[in-house]
Amino acid sequence: MDRTTRGGHDAALNARTWDAIVSSRPPTPRRLDWLFRPAPGPGPELLGDVRGAMVAELGCGQGRHLAGLAGCGIARGFGIDVSPVRLGDAAFTFADVDQVEWWLGDAVTAAAHLPDLDIAYSVFGAMWFADPQDLLPVLAHRIRLGGRLVFSCLTRSPGMPEGRRRMLVRTGPARSLWTVRHMYSVSGWVRLLAEHGFTTDRAIRPTDPVNAFWGTCVFVAHRSR
Ligand SMILES: C[S@@+](CC[C@H](N)C(=O)[O-])C[C@H]1O[C@@H](n2cnc3c(N)ncnc32)[C@H](O)[C@@H]1O
Repeated sequence: MDRTTRGGHDAALNARTWDAIVSSRPPTPRRLDWLFRPAPGPGPELLGDVRGAMVAELGCGQGRHLAGLAGCGIARGFGIDVSPVRLGDAAFTFADVDQVEWWLGDAVTAAAHLPDLDIAYSVFGAMWFADPQDLLPVLAHRIRLGGRLVFSCLTRSPGMPEGRRRMLVRTGPARSLWTVRHMYSVSGWVRLLAEHGFTTDRAIRPTDPVNAFWGTCVFVAHRSR
């Protein structure tokens, strides 16, 4: 199976799983946080000055972070998610947030249609679930020189090979569904980013035991070529 076909298949599989993991409560705008489980950690300051910025969130889920950012003076925001249920919730709940658009689709395909961006970010979103070998070249065309790419993900455990991984996630009391994620070490991510024209400014490892145990990392990069 070639990469394009496999990427489309993985996106459909992830969409089905994330459609099944939805809070029944309507989403509310939320301050940007980056960790896997609640703990003190970095916040929206990692995006830099967002006033007047063109911003995209890749794998925005029910839109709570982007809706929160809309009140911070961004010029326009684009929330992309592959799950019809989650994106539908975002579009319905935040329909009155004028400066934000909600786009349903695989980030690799949808991001190619974005206007020029100052900032793209992802909170355990498409930067982790889509193949970075497919998504980073698209982002390198859409993020302006000097613009930021900030994302959080879990990194691979010691000894685990780098790359695509199928993993089960619990979607109900007695039900699990497959997801596909892309697991790299911190140095693996830094190398991938560099291969696609991004310089890593910070790779932040949380110190709290839960996030540290899961290998959470937040990457702050900028497009340097
Ligand atoms: C762990 S959830 C995080 C959602 C959101 N960032 C948040 O913090 O609430 C992962 C999200 O990534 C989305 N996703 C997975 N693969 C994707 C892809 N290829 N393109 C766009 N979104 C994707 C899922 O549908 C899901 O909403």
